[in-house]
Parts: sequence; structure tokens; C-alpha cells
Amino acid sequence: MAGASSGGNSAYPSFSSRIAFIIVTAGSAVGLGNVWGFPYVAGQNGGGGFVLIYLLALAFVAAPAFMAELMLGRMGKASPPNALGRLQAKAGSRLHWPLVGWTGLVGTILVLSFYAVIAGQAMDYAIEAAKGGFAGWSDHEVQALDADFKSSMPMMALWSAIFMGLTALIVSFDINTGLEKAGKVMMPALLMILLGMVIYSGNTGDFGAAVDFLFGFHKMDVTPRLFLEAVGQAFFTLGVGVGGIMTYGSYMGSNVNLPRATLWIVAMDLFVALAAGLAIFPLVFSSGVSAAAGPGLVFLTLPLIFADIPGGAVVAFAFFLLLTFAAVTSSISLLSPTVARLEEAGWSRRKGAVLMASLAVIISLLTAYSFAGGKHVFPLAALGLDGMTFFDLIREGVSNFILPLSGLAYALMVGWALSREEVRKALPMEDGLMFRLWHGVIRYVAPICITALFIGAVAG
Ligand code: PHE
Repeated sequence: MAGASSGGNSAYPSFSSRIAFIIVTAGSAVGLGNVWGFPYVAGQNGGGGFVLIYLLALAFVAAPAFMAELMLGRMGKASPPNALGRLQAKAGSRLHWPLVGWTGLVGTILVLSFYAVIAGQAMDYAIEAAKGGFAGWSDHEVQALDADFKSSMPMMALWSAIFMGLTALIVSFDINTGLEKAGKVMMPALLMILLGMVIYSGNTGDFGAAVDFLFGFHKMDVTPRLFLEAVGQAFFTLGVGVGGIMTYGSYMGSNVNLPRATLWIVAMDLFVALAAGLAIFPLVFSSGVSAAAGPGLVFLTLPLIFADIPGGAVVAFAFFLLLTFAAVTSSISLLSPTVARLEEAGWSRRKGAVLMASLAVIISLLTAYSFAGGKHVFPLAALGLDGMTFFDLIREGVSNFILPLSGLAYALMVGWALSREEVRKALPMEDGLMFRLWHGVIRYVAPICITALFIGAVAG
């Protein structure tokens, strides 16, 4: 196979080039978390100050952990549970590392379960826009479209199935034909659309207000919860902690410079999140709607704006297509780890993809239910988690717990269990300032920050 890696098993698949690896892995990072998540989470948490904490969390915790996860994948050359099993043996550790891999596999399906519903709504809206929708719509019509979608379980289930079907189709091919081609087509298209939107918003909307909102300082309450949200968002946006990145790392040829690739991917992810903010908020501010609209920002507030602006239907179509592409390039990375594990058990990629995608669709009914009949059903109210639907529990449970805790585990494995030399050679990096800095962060800073965060969140 093209670019087959020399690390271990020569039959193990590998992306065909460095650039292919970077594009596909950036596709995993860039997702709903950037275009749908970041603007609304930043909006809800007051803008500038939150963005600063988010940047710090990205630089000092999530990005170093991302690099660790990629490295574990390339060293282990297998699905996450098996890769970690091999590395446990190598490190001679008595802790059960594969457990972290298995937890991640559960995490991938949980993320897919809500991803599918939200991406499904994006696809539905793209079609609505293509039919000429939104232009000239009244507030009432926009609200009705969102309400109709979110109140119809069959509609959400259908879209979730379509989205997961598409994901399974791409994953069922071998990685060079499926994952790689999808990334090479969708990522450049996504970047072009996004740039077009930023330029459009800059000309039509209140760009200054958006910049001030995202980068200026405003009075806000700094709570442990805010830190947890910022760290959760940083982990989610890079996709660290469920083994998707580890699986892609296992397909990374030994010719790829891992630290440099990490920098490119993190930079692209950050760029897309900020650009999404700069595409959305100028329009939000010039039309006088609230920036703190929450998860509905993209599906309720934006269409209202598209209704009013010149060329609204075209902009709307472009935007929802962008959202769909971002979602697909991430969902394929979320389906890959379980499929890789099933392949090791002798399954074909196609069978594995269909089975795991079906499971995600079934679980996605919980998210659909949380938007529809179960809007006021709070399953863990008795545990003090009142007001949280199944969707809230799944989304926050994964982003704020599974991801940072797995990140902590990766940091401990790489920083403490594997030897410093082994790690340095696996990257590979010279024993200079950059390596020392990263190794210090992985050994001390990231574990201490994540632990402190949890103590703060539990105590607060
Ligand atoms: N990073 C993706 C996003 O921002 C989500 C994701 C999470 C992808 C976990 C892979 C693994 O939407």
C-alpha cells in the first residue's frame, strides 16, 4: 500500500502522504465543535474572557495531549484498546491501559449519537435553503422550521440514519479510498466557504462588534465551571480522548513529523473556530439578536438573519453545507476506532461500519427525545443534575469528563510510564528546548491542571 509505514506490521494501512494525513486529521478536529459549538459556547459564556481561558486550555492541556494521543497511536499501530495493550506491555506497567481505549470507544459512539441529530438538522436546512428557503421568511416561519424538526422523532431519526449511513459508507472503504478522499474533497471546500462567509459578514455585518466580543474583555464571573467548559471545549474541538486521533495516528507514516503535524492541525482547528465566530457574530450584532442564544444560535438565530440579508438563500445554503462537511469529516474519525477494533476481530470494514453506525442511530434517539417529548425529562435529577436532558448529559458527560480524563491518562502514560528516551525517539524530536517544554507539560502541567479542574468542579 502507498506510503506503508515501516513501524511494526508492514501490512498495516497508512495514509498516502504527509499532507493527506494532516488534511484528514484536521478534518477530525474541525467539526460541529468549531462551527456550531464554539460560537454558542463562547456566546453563552460572555465572549473574550472565555476565549482567553479556552486558548490557554488549548495550548497547555489539550494540544499537548493531542500530540500524545497521536504518538500512542503511531507507536501502538492498532485500534485504541490493542494499541494501548501493546504499549502497556512495552512499559511493563501493571495498570490496565486498554480500559482507557475501551472507554474511548464508548465515547465515540456517544459523540456520534448527538452528532448525527445535529448534523441531520444541518443537512435538512441545507436542502431547505437550496429550495430557496429562508429568504424573506418571517420570524414565525423560522421558528416553525426548527420546532417542526425538533418535535418530530421520526424526522430526526430519519436524518440521523441518513447521516450515519453516509458516514458508514465512507468508512467502509479502505482508508485511502474512503477517509482520505472524503477529507481531500470536503476540507478545502469547507475552508473556501468559510472564508467567503467571513468576507461577506465583514462587509454586511458589524465586524467591529464581533471582534470586540470575541477578543475584548468584559466583566464576567470566573467560576470552576467556566474552566471546565473551556477545557471541555478545547478537548472536544481537537477530538482528544476517545481514540479517534489515536486511530488516525496509527495510520500515520513514520515519515510524518509528528510535532509539526500537530502544530498544523491545531492551528487549522483554531483558525476555523475563530473564523466561524467571525462569520456568525457580525451578522448577530448587526441584526440586534442575542449572542447568548445557546445551542439554537445556528439553527434559530442565523436563519432569521439569512431571511433578511441580500442573497440570504445562497449564504444559508453555503453555511449549512459547510456545517455538514465539518460534521462528516469528524464523524468518519469517530466511527473509525470501533471499526478498526472489529477488523482485528476478523470483521470486514463494511460490516463493522454498518453495525456501529446502526448502534449510534439507536442511541441518537435519546438526543432526539431530549429535543422533542423529553425536553423536560431530567433522568438524573435525583443526583442533583436537575434541568439536564439525556442530550445535555451525554454531551457534557463526554466533553467534560471522558475526554479530559482520558487526556489525563494519555499524559500519565506518555509522561511517566513510557521512558523519556522512548518517547523522544517515537516523535522523533531532538533533545532541545521544545521537547523539554512539551515533556514537562505532559508530565506536570497537563495532569495537574486536569486534576485541579476536577477537584474545583466537584468542590464548587
Ligand atoms: N473535534 C470534533 C469537533 O470539533 C469532534 C470530535 C470529537 C471528533 C472526538 C473526534 C473525536 O466537532
